[in-house]
Amino acid sequence: MSEAALRQVHVIDHPLVQHKLTLMRRKDTSTKTFRQLIHELSALLAYEVTRDMPMQEVEVETPLEKTTGRVIDGKKTVLASILRAGNGFLDGMLEVLPSARVGHIGLYRDPQTLKPVEYYFKMPSGMEERDVIVLDPMLATGNSAVAAVDLLKRLTPRSIRFVCLVACPEGIANFHAHHPDVPIYTPAVDRGLNEHGYIVPGLGDAGDRIFGTK
Ligand code: URA
Repeated sequence: MSEAALRQVHVIDHPLVQHKLTLMRRKDTSTKTFRQLIHELSALLAYEVTRDMPMQEVEVETPLEKTTGRVIDGKKTVLASILRAGNGFLDGMLEVLPSARVGHIGLYRDPQTLKPVEYYFKMPSGMEERDVIVLDPMLATGNSAVAAVDLLKRLTPRSIRFVCLVACPEGIANFHAHHPDVPIYTPAVDRGLNEHGYIVPGLGDAGDRIFGTK
């Protein structure tokens, strides 16, 4: 992995984030608890991923006098969820970013080529002026994340960031080979991928754990 790409991985080491992720990894954590935890974690991740968003000064009148304050600059942020597990991040992130717009990206893996193919893509208008936060809990092979950002870049948003719960070296290398300009925000970089494409130690299938489909 190049140095530039490594600099673009933000490992979120905050104790609250690490604590919640550890509880989510436990195999006997119930669907209800897993959902509650991803909800809480999402709000904390939103706080970190928006840390360097551009701001502008505005005038504000308090009950005592006029002063200046700062607000996030530009049009609304877009939360771009990679279906279906990315949806697990939405409620918690929207608590912190209540005016954010939400986009969805559906991809499936072609059984012949094993490449991701788009089946759904819906973003708000005016993407050129928006900052996008791409959501997918597991950065495993990185193929879906690469394809999702390929699609988003056609709309030339002002910026793109990628957020996950768990990444691995293979996924980071693949993602940054294609998109070295897109920073990754993750609480964990795990050891690697197993022969089924799961992150180890990981937390299992994030979609199944969020939606209780196993
Ligand atoms: N997708 C998941 O949900 N989990 C993994 O470990 C890898 C991909």
